[in-house]
Order: sequence, then structure tokens, then C-alpha cells
Amino acid sequence: MLVVENIHAYYGQSHVIQNVSLTVEQGELVCLLGRNGAGKSTTLKSIMGLVPAREGKILFQGRDITAMPTYDISAQGLCLVPEHRGIFRLLTVEENLRLAENKKSQWSLKDIYRIFPRLHERRRNSGANLSGGEQQMLAIGRAMMNSPKLLILDEPVEGLAPVIVEEIVAQLKLIRTSGVAVLLVEQNLEVCMQLADRHYIIEGGRIVYENENAVFMADTSVKDKYLSVGAAD
Ligand SMILES: Nc1ncnc2c1ncn2[C@@H]1O[C@H](COP(=O)(O)OP(=O)(O)O)[C@@H](O)[C@H]1O
Ligand SMILES: [Mg+2]
Repeated sequence: MLVVENIHAYYGQSHVIQNVSLTVEQGELVCLLGRNGAGKSTTLKSIMGLVPAREGKILFQGRDITAMPTYDISAQGLCLVPEHRGIFRLLTVEENLRLAENKKSQWSLKDIYRIFPRLHERRRNSGANLSGGEQQMLAIGRAMMNSPKLLILDEPVEGLAPVIVEEIVAQLKLIRTSGVAVLLVEQNLEVCMQLADRHYIIEGGRIVYENENAVFMADTSVKDKYLSVGAAD
């Protein structure tokens, strides 16, 4: 469904993404792991055309999206929930959701409220009055309203309390069961191992590891090598 082939991306002269390749199949949940500064967010931004790849190719459902502007990429069905969730603080939860409404979406407001009961409870609250976890749920809910074929999440549980993390993991499982493909950037290994079909690890802008979840879970040395020092908690 998504094929990233040997892409290179830069900030000015700084060569941040070096020959990155990865794939996400229909219905798959794929994790991209790596330490701070490894190039995870930039990879996502390159896929979305925000930091365009200068070399290499990105295909989505067979179509070349490498050089497309971001709005065209979104229109293909790719949806990024960025690190800083982009909630409209002066709008209510429900207004935030309705803004993203897309007639084509298989997800109605009711579906979103079923998956995220807290958003239903808080539907008349303004974005500014939500906790971090609720903001994240709203950001994901809003992305779902927009009818994504591939949902791309950048560290959705970072900084959230364990009980909220569990709630969001359960919600992502539900979303995933519906057949939406997910590309997840996350540093919380526990979360990744609960959700992912496959993992990639990026280090210094290069993919250094790729494996199925079962193999990854059993492989402690790879975690020590690439993800240790605080990345696991
Ligand atoms: N806007 C930017 N301008 C210049 N360098 C940046 C910018 N954003 C990130 N970088 C650098 O690019 C590298 C990769 O960053 P990023 O993709 O954000 O890493 P990650 O998401 O894995 O923590 C880091 O060295 C970071 O300092
Ligand atoms: Mg990042």
C-alpha cells in the first residue's frame, strides 16, 4: 500500500534521511522506532511531502506521491497526526471533529464517540480544556473522520499517564481491526510490541533493522543496541 524506496531528505545542507526504505501493507500496523533525533518525524514528514524527499520514491497504492504537494497527498488517503496534536483550542471537541468530517468516511461522529467515550463525555468542552490524553484521542478521532486509508501517528502516547496509554492502545487496536493501515512512530516499546505486525528501527537517518513482531520481541540484543537508555520507558 505504502512503499518508500531509498529516500533522502535534508534540512538545508543537513542530510537527515539517508536511503530510507519501508513498506506498509493494507491492514498492517507498522512501527518505526529509534532514539531521539534518529529521523523518525522527518521520515513521516517526507512521506507527507512536508520535507520532500530529494531522491528516492514514495508510492501509495501504486501512485507516485514523491513530488506531490501535501494537500494532494492527504487527498490520497494519508493522514498524519503530528507530535503536537494541532487541536483547535477555542473550538469544542465536537466542532473539532466536525471540521474534519468527510462524506466518504466510513467513520461517523457516532463511531468516533463509540471508540473514544471520553470524547463523547467532553464533546462540549473546548480543546483548551482537555488533558493531554484527551487531546491525543481528539487528534486521532479527527484523523479518522477524514477517512484515512493510512493513519500515520507520531509518538501518540508520549508523556501520557500509563492508564491513558492503555486506553489509547485499546483504541488503536479497534481502529486497526477495522482494516485501516497504521504507521506508528513510538518510543514506548511496550506499546509497540502490543500493536505492531512489524518493526523498523532507524538510527542516524538509516534503517538499521526490520523484523516481524514475534522476532523483535524475542530479540533483546537489538533493543539494547538501538533503543536502550531510557527509550524503553
Ligand atoms: N526543522 C529542522 N531543521 C533542522 N534540523 C532539524 C529540524 N528538525 C529536525 N532536525 C534534525 O534532524 C534530525 C532528525 O530529527 P527528527 O526526524 O525530528 O528525529 P526523531 O523524530 O527521530 O526524534 C535531528 O538531528 C534533528 O536535530
Ligand atoms: Mg520525532
